[in-house]
Amino acid sequence: MRHKEIRVFPDPVLREKAQEVKRFDEGIREVIQRMRRIMQEAEGIGLAAPQIGILQRIIVGDTGEERVAIVNPEILQAEGEDVMEEGCLSIPGVYIEIRRPTWIKVRGIDENGDEKEWEIEGLLARVVQHEIDHLNGTLIVDYLSAREYMRFQREYERLMSGDEE
Ligand code: NI
Repeated sequence: MRHKEIRVFPDPVLREKAQEVKRFDEGIREVIQRMRRIMQEAEGIGLAAPQIGILQRIIVGDTGEERVAIVNPEILQAEGEDVMEEGCLSIPGVYIEIRRPTWIKVRGIDENGDEKEWEIEGLLARVVQHEIDHLNGTLIVDYLSAREYMRFQREYERLMSGDEE
C-alpha cells in the first residue's frame, strides 16, 4: 500500500548510505515509534529509516509473530540459504526472488538503548537483511541481472505513470 511518508524509487535518498547513530536519545526513540507507525499503516513487515528520508542506521521489523527494532545493526554470522519473493514499500508492485541466509546473528542497539545480540531465523531474518540492505543504499532490484533490470525499469515506468493521474 502506498504511504505518503514513504520515499519511492527512484528517489535518490534510497541510494544513500545511512550514518551510524552516535548517541541513543529521545530523538532516536521517536524515530523508531514513527517508523513502526508508518510500517503498520503501510501494512509492511519491515522498514528502514532511509525509506522515510532519515539517513540513520535504524531498522524495524514485525512479522506479526515477532518484532524487532535495531539501531546500528551488524550481521556477525549467517547460515543456511533459501530463495523467497520479496517486495519493498519503496518499490510498489514489484516482487523479486532473492537468495539469502535463513539464520543470522546480529549485533546492535535495541529500542531501550542497550547493546544486544539477536539470533534471528525465518521470515524475520529475511526482513532484517532486506532492511540492512536499505541502510547501504541497496534495493531488491539490485539482485536482478542486467537484462532483468532493464525489463524492470520499463515496467516500473509504466506502473508509475499509470499511478499518477
Ligand atoms: Ni524495502
